[in-house]
Amino acid sequence: MSFFKQYIAKNFSNFTFFYSVVRSRLLVVISLAILTGLLDSIGLTMFLPLLQMSDGSSNVDLGNLNFINDFLNYFNIKLTIFKSLIILVFVFSLKAYIVYKSGVYRVRTQQILTKKIRMNIVNEFPTFSYQKFVSADQGKIQNIFLGELSRLNNTYTNYVLMIQGAILIIIYMLFSFVVDWKFALLVCIGGYVSNLVFNRINKLTKEKSKNISLVNNAFANILIQYVSNFKYLKATGEILNYRDKVEESIDYVQHEALQISILNNKVTAFREPLLIFIIALVIAVQVYFFDARISLIMVSLLFFYRALIGIVNVQASYNTTISNQGAIDNILDFYKEMQNNKEKIGKKEYLGFKNEICIRDLYFSYNQTPILNNINLAIPKNKTVAFVGESGSGKTTLVNLLIGLLKPKSGELLLDNVNLLDYNQFSYQKKLGYISQEPTVFNDTIYNNITFWAPKTPENIKKFNQAIQRASIQHFINALPDKEEAMLGNNGINLSGGQRQRISIARELFKDAEILILDEATSALDSETEKQIQESIDNLHGDRTIIIIAHRLSTIKNADIIYQLDKGQLIAKGSFSEVIENSESFKRMVLLQEL
Ligand SMILES: Nc1ncnc2c1ncn2[C@@H]1O[C@H](COP(=O)(O)OP(=O)(O)O)[C@@H](O)[C@H]1O
Ligand SMILES: [Mg+2]
Repeated sequence: MSFFKQYIAKNFSNFTFFYSVVRSRLLVVISLAILTGLLDSIGLTMFLPLLQMSDGSSNVDLGNLNFINDFLNYFNIKLTIFKSLIILVFVFSLKAYIVYKSGVYRVRTQQILTKKIRMNIVNEFPTFSYQKFVSADQGKIQNIFLGELSRLNNTYTNYVLMIQGAILIIIYMLFSFVVDWKFALLVCIGGYVSNLVFNRINKLTKEKSKNISLVNNAFANILIQYVSNFKYLKATGEILNYRDKVEESIDYVQHEALQISILNNKVTAFREPLLIFIIALVIAVQVYFFDARISLIMVSLLFFYRALIGIVNVQASYNTTISNQGAIDNILDFYKEMQNNKEKIGKKEYLGFKNEICIRDLYFSYNQTPILNNINLAIPKNKTVAFVGESGSGKTTLVNLLIGLLKPKSGELLLDNVNLLDYNQFSYQKKLGYISQEPTVFNDTIYNNITFWAPKTPENIKKFNQAIQRASIQHFINALPDKEEAMLGNNGINLSGGQRQRISIARELFKDAEILILDEATSALDSETEKQIQESIDNLHGDRTIIIIAHRLSTIKNADIIYQLDKGQLIAKGSFSEVIENSESFKRMVLLQEL
């Protein structure tokens, strides 16, 4: 039994996958195919009386298909050449209509499939663990979002064509069995032999297909970096070396694609002569060994021919299906990865905190390597708190834990004594403002960048103007020809590092973030710009909770509490002057920076 289950699971995994997404629609597709096959077969059967009557014989003998004649007789219809022709035209017109309808239905089902899968992946993305995302293959993820989904379309279309084709073949076979079983048996044997031949090639194609997904992922990765590291690559002349790498990768992708299409072409080219050979053989057997009526042979041949064309089509669809199989596997793998690394969402709605954020006995590690150890600290509401320490001491990791991007391995993060994990983290994160060293800029207008696509109501415009004023960017924006409608990012205006940072700050001010987190937000800026931004942030002092990580200690001079980290441990805390007194290393840092 379990073997049987496995067999089904293996051979029908695509069916179960598609069925799980489009459900009963797949059954409608199948029903329409059955209807098409029946109509086609009845139409073909009409050639039998036609051939017999054109022979001059007046009595019609449909052999085992006489039930069709009986059915017509029941309605007092006696078959004549004319009536047969009318039925023929009617049946084939009806069939054409069904074929047309089922074609449209197939495309609609395919759209539903794509949409559902896209939506599923897009929907899972927000809860995808940040820790997993950072170590995931970004090229692969982009390839899934962009490339693999269109390959999936292709797979589905061909899979359905394959099922429809298979149903047609079965119906033709049934009819030709009824007309002349010996003949049908020969066709079966012929079809089986041709299938054996193609199975071997199909196996090869399947393996190649898996490989092509891997190759495409790697290619996407290389290209993304070619574009995103453009400046560095160009500035250092390394772009020429990197270009060679990209070119190599292009060649490799093409090579693999060519291999798979060579296989496909071989199969296509080889198929027809093989089938004609089988037909010839069957006719020879029919003529030399069995003495069948010529009209029966003719009609059987029609069925036979249809069935063989069907086999060819099914094999072609099957081949395309498996050459795109890698896409399904890739998408499913990623989907599973997202589900296995899904963040648990707490139930409590976060409405703000009253007194303090408290970190208790916090421990965090990356793959057994301790990064933060035994951290105990408090962040009082509306105070400015700074983290200092050498690069690699764990400041960013600590902030990532505070944001809820990472989860503590042990210990707790408490907001007024409620564990952060108990909250719906989205409701918490919505109250956070986050600015890092690389400001986030979307390819859109300044207004949309700052308001996150808020509608342009008078109220929002007022808030927007306040935000840009407090971030000291209003003069820059108002001097632009398009003002706040100017485009940023690709194909938009180029901003200096300081301007970008101010846009980011304005965004968080517009958002009215309760907790503002700045992780080396001003480290990349010149001291004059930093001073200006510092003033904007100082303006918020006491007005909301601010968490600052900064390299230049001048930035944090006014912080209410400074926490010094060293190799993942908290080694000093207090006001600026207190920490100077208590920590030799901090004192050295201050002296070095000549404050
Ligand atoms: N995704 C990661 N996987 C493994 N180790 C990491 C990862 N991110 C950071 N680390 C390590 O954690 C330590 C602390 O990093 P980080 O918090 O970024 O330091 P800081 O911000 O103080 O410079 C570093 O030793 C760094 O190598
Ligand atoms: Mg850092």
